[in-house]
Order: sequence, then structure tokens, then C-alpha cells
Amino acid sequence: VDVIDADLECREHQAAVLQLIDAYASDAMGDGRGLSDEVRANLIPGLRSHPAQHIFLAYESGLPVGIAVCFRGFSTFRARPLLNVHDLAVLPAYRGQGIGRRLLERVMAKARDLGCCAVTLEVGEHNVVAQALYRDVGFEEGDRQSAAGRMLFWKKPV
Ligand SMILES: CC(C)(COP(=O)(O)OP(=O)(O)OC[C@H]1O[C@@H](n2cnc3c(N)ncnc32)[C@H](O)[C@@H]1OP(=O)(O)O)[C@@H](O)C(=O)NCCC(=O)NCCS
Repeated sequence: VDVIDADLECREHQAAVLQLIDAYASDAMGDGRGLSDEVRANLIPGLRSHPAQHIFLAYESGLPVGIAVCFRGFSTFRARPLLNVHDLAVLPAYRGQGIGRRLLERVMAKARDLGCCAVTLEVGEHNVVAQALYRDVGFEEGDRQSAAGRMLFWKKPV
């Protein structure tokens, strides 16, 4: 398995990103349905124009089988960048072979290169497989040092 930095100017990598995000969106642990035509049309242009994206692709025997999509943020409390893992997914037929772990290791290496203070991610409370992987590589839930308690993920549609 090769894990590489995606080059969004490369058509092969563009197709790989679309295929893998569509597969992840279709997964029960994703959105439970594939990407709409509108999202399929806008995904690559949107990512290409994003100034802080870092995308990694895992290839096995020349086929794209896994992806990590990350966005660089900035911690004001640490005055250092941080890296958020927005998507991590491996095609079902290729799971359990260490590919998710390899992708996460690549994310951690990129975070170190960028001088990040942390890597962050959100994971569903019922997604025990992903949680096992994250725990195994050293992630822990919430921000235990904060007097405000665990950090909760909130959102409001715009
Ligand atoms: C989560 C996901 C990316 C893991 O990828 P993967 O390539 O199968 O994971 P790995 O083979 O690298 O497994 C690494 C560790 O994860 C855990 N893990 C993997 N599969 C597991 C399973 N079926 N049950 C329990 N733990 C499991 C184990 O801790 C494993 O370590 P080990 O092999 O030393 O036991 C993959 O299952 C996936 O794409 N799931 C759907 C999308 C998703 O949920 N993404 C995460 C969103 S937050």
C-alpha cells in the first residue's frame, strides 16, 4: 500500500477523491447515501480552491482504496496550527489490513511537519471501529484539561 499526497491538479487523483468520498458518503458510518450530482460537480473545484486542504490517498495495486481529507486550522490558545481530519475512509473490501492506520500515521507526520499542536477529529458515538483505531493511535475523547469539561460538537445550518 502506498500513501501519497493527493495532487488535485492531477485528473487521476481527482477521480480517486470523488470515488472515495462518494463511497464514504454511501457508508452507514458516513451519510448512508452517495453524493448528489451537485456535490459531485462542486467537490473537486471547491477543494482545489481551499487554501488549507491536505488530502492523502492510499493505493493498493494501483487502485485508490483509502482517503484522509484534512483541513489546517489554527489554535489561538497555542498560537500554532492544528490539523482536523474531516474524512477518513477505506473501501469496505480493503478494511482490516492496516490502511486506515497508515493514513492516520501520514496525517500525524504532516501535522508534525506543519508544526501543529494537535490533530483533531469528530467520530460518531456508535462508530466503535473508528474509535478503536483512534484510541490505538493515541487519540482521546474531549479536552480533559478544560474546566469547561468535554468539548461537544455543535452546528447550525447556514
Ligand atoms: C475506520 C476505518 C477508516 C478503519 O480503516 P481500516 O483500514 O479498516 O483500519 P485498520 O485496518 O488500519 O485498523 C486499525 C485498527 O482499527 C481497529 N479496527 C479496525 N477494524 C476493526 C473492527 N472491525 N473491529 C474493531 N476494531 C477494528 C483496530 O484497533 C485496528 O488495529 P489492529 O489491526 O491492530 O487490531 C474503516 O473502517 C472505514 O472506512 N470505516 C467507514 C468510514 C468511517 O467510519 N470513517 C471514520 C469516520 S470518523
